[in-house]
Amino acid sequence: MKKKVLAYNRVEKPVLDQLEKEFDVRFFKNIDVDKDPEFLEWLGEAEGIIGLALPVTKQLLDRAPNLKIVSNVSVGYDNLDISELTERNIIATNTPDILTDTVADTVFGLIISAARRIPELDNKVKSGNWTEPLGPEHYGIDVHHKTLGIIGMGKIGAAIAQRARFGFDMDIIYHSRRRKPEAEERFDAVYRDFDQLLGESDFVCLITPLTPETEGMIGKREFGLMKNTAIFINGSRGKTIIESDLIEALKKGEIAGCGLDVFEKEPMDLDNPLLGMKNAVTTPHIGSSTWETELAMSDLAAKNLRAGLAGEKPPTMINAEVWEDKG
Ligand code: GLV
Ligand code: GLV
Repeated sequence: MKKKVLAYNRVEKPVLDQLEKEFDVRFFKNIDVDKDPEFLEWLGEAEGIIGLALPVTKQLLDRAPNLKIVSNVSVGYDNLDISELTERNIIATNTPDILTDTVADTVFGLIISAARRIPELDNKVKSGNWTEPLGPEHYGIDVHHKTLGIIGMGKIGAAIAQRARFGFDMDIIYHSRRRKPEAEERFDAVYRDFDQLLGESDFVCLITPLTPETEGMIGKREFGLMKNTAIFINGSRGKTIIESDLIEALKKGEIAGCGLDVFEKEPMDLDNPLLGMKNAVTTPHIGSSTWETELAMSDLAAKNLRAGLAGEKPPTMINAEVWEDKG
């Protein structure tokens, strides 16, 4: 009998088709994971889960007695209760590395879009309101030769620094839990304490994972420390900032603008004030969503799933201690 696998939200079609040959797969999307009867029934039997952003909580795990592996199609794993998974000897995997350059491209797109007001001006052209040569009220600010502050100099942070340093001649300052000598050497990145970084950056770029330590790390006080001309970029998770404080800071002119790929609630409510703000450039959490990278992520997630279900060590495990316990 084929093993039962629960697929959730996003697994690219060619990969899903292949998995369906190997396993008994059921795909779920846009359902209430606390109530959907079919989902709950399948969860009760599944040995593997593969997908995007399923909240794997203690309560969910209580309903999944046969589960051996949860394979995230994402690098972030704030949706997983890792200690609970580890406690139950369930393998957790993610898809690091293959999305690094793609996410860095997205972040750079947000930097340039916000600085040069591209979505707002695109809208001006398309709506037929470009009726005369534009003046200062439509000018943007330069990106090149400015100071970029990176919070979280992990792999993605480094890929952003590379673009900034060598493509745009920017000065890089950074803050991370640990000093990153390699980034200091390769990009002339200079370490700053948190408050100093906020005060000196023309662009503040947040790219740290969401953890209990980073939740809400940027709020009223932090926006207040930024330059009035600063542009804030969030490529991490919505909950690493206090979104209502960001909205206040934009309204009061404490910062000049922002570029956001992530939000407190996704999809956001239609009364979210960000929807009406020209100086907020938004994308719907598509940091890694290119054809190439989504396929590669699904593929890696499938490799992780297969290995976990075959009793082999998955290529990119989050909770390696589960494996060590088994071995
Ligand atoms: C996307 O946000 C990811 O974590 O891969
Ligand atoms: C990496 O992002 C770190 O905070 O060390």
